[in-house]
Amino acid sequence: MSAQKPPAETNASTAKVWSGRFSEPVTELVKRFTASVTFDQRLARADIQGSLAHAAMLAKVGVISPQDLSDIGRGMAQITAEISAETFEWDIAREDVHMNIEARLIAIIGDAGKRLHTGRSRNDQVATDIRLWLRDEIDDLVERLRVLQSALLDVANHHAATIMPGFTHLQVAQPVTFGHHLMAYVEMLARDEARLVDCRKRVNRLPLGAAALAGTSYPIDRQHVADALGFDGVCENSLDAVSDRDFAIEFVGAAALIMTHLSRFSEELIIWMSQSVAFIDLPDRFCYSSSIMPQKKNPDVPELIRGKTGRVNGHLVALLTLMKGQPLAYNKDNQEDKEPLFDTVDTVRDSLTIMADLATGIVVKEDNMRNAVLKGFATATDLADYLVKRGVAFRDAHEAVATAVRLANQSNRRLEDLSLEELRSFSSHITDDVYAVLSPEGSAAARNHIGGTAPEQVRSAIARARIRLSAARGQSAIA
Ligand code: ARG
Repeated sequence: MSAQKPPAETNASTAKVWSGRFSEPVTELVKRFTASVTFDQRLARADIQGSLAHAAMLAKVGVISPQDLSDIGRGMAQITAEISAETFEWDIAREDVHMNIEARLIAIIGDAGKRLHTGRSRNDQVATDIRLWLRDEIDDLVERLRVLQSALLDVANHHAATIMPGFTHLQVAQPVTFGHHLMAYVEMLARDEARLVDCRKRVNRLPLGAAALAGTSYPIDRQHVADALGFDGVCENSLDAVSDRDFAIEFVGAAALIMTHLSRFSEELIIWMSQSVAFIDLPDRFCYSSSIMPQKKNPDVPELIRGKTGRVNGHLVALLTLMKGQPLAYNKDNQEDKEPLFDTVDTVRDSLTIMADLATGIVVKEDNMRNAVLKGFATATDLADYLVKRGVAFRDAHEAVATAVRLANQSNRRLEDLSLEELRSFSSHITDDVYAVLSPEGSAAARNHIGGTAPEQVRSAIARARIRLSAARGQSAIA
């Protein structure tokens, strides 16, 4: 419901909603400045859902008649159809999504429409709408996080034993497998998923019933509304219910971390694809050329994901700042919560979806990865460990290997190119079984404990992640 007709310019019949209280209308600029309908019409479906549950409860407790309820149901069905058909006329003179829908309801069904707002305020209404909307978006993002993890697991499985350099300080450090490297991102995304699932618990509470701020004198049944709308419970303090947006801030915080992880991965893809590294290639469908340099194939998509992380971080700061100076209870400031929240959801959704497709398309240049390991003295630690296992103290072993690296580097050779005699000049503990230790495959295979880079460990990490994902999916199917 996001792409609706632009709101009609104000006409005389809708010039001001509460003109009875005022002696003059607001100016055109103020009207535009205060209206939110251009963006909050996105909450229309949630708004109608919330109104229907509220009306059903009012009828149940006898505040409105069964006939009113049935008229409201009929009117809302028509409004829903009009919004879907994009024939609904949004009017900025009606300020926001709530007033637009209510006005249309009254136009369609008359007096029963005027009774809908009994025992309710836009303050608890909007808080309910955002929570309903965000809850669904969280469920969607959680599933997309799982799809991305599954995609990475498939690539990791294929490359469980593919040797690449592991880096610290962006300098070649020790051999790892590409599968192990990808599994690091699966771990990050698993925590992102858990954060969203946890945040959802605090989103999924019903504010409705708080009314403007103090509650209402009607004999409402909040639990009934909560059950009808699938909330886990009600917000237990009316002032808090209408005013705090911590649930949205928390969500954007979790989203900023998702983007941070995607951004780091993007950065790696960009580096790996650069000609001077050349570990991977990306499919053409994620790349663009240059308007001047015909040879260029640029990784625009990962660059944009990295770039869009900035706007989500910005939204987090915007929401925190929005909240920090507000006295209880509701203030109009809160209308500013929506655009950052909506844009965060859109940005994360697109980034996750694109990244899942992109990940499966990575073309790995295995020889280049392996050669980079060989050039980087990546098994120097293994040689030191070899000496330690033969009784040399680690510091002495470290020094002996450092000297060996220096000799090899001077003569433009790798450690395994040094003769046994040369190696023995650094330590008499070295024998001809050292060469097995100096191979990148031997080095990776030796790190055979949980969390280590040995292909065997990578495969079991993948198996564990697959079990976790399918269990999580099974649970959401039941819920
Ligand atoms: N459009 C408003 C918002 O997003 C709805 C609540 C308005 N409440 C009020 N008391 N003016 O916050």
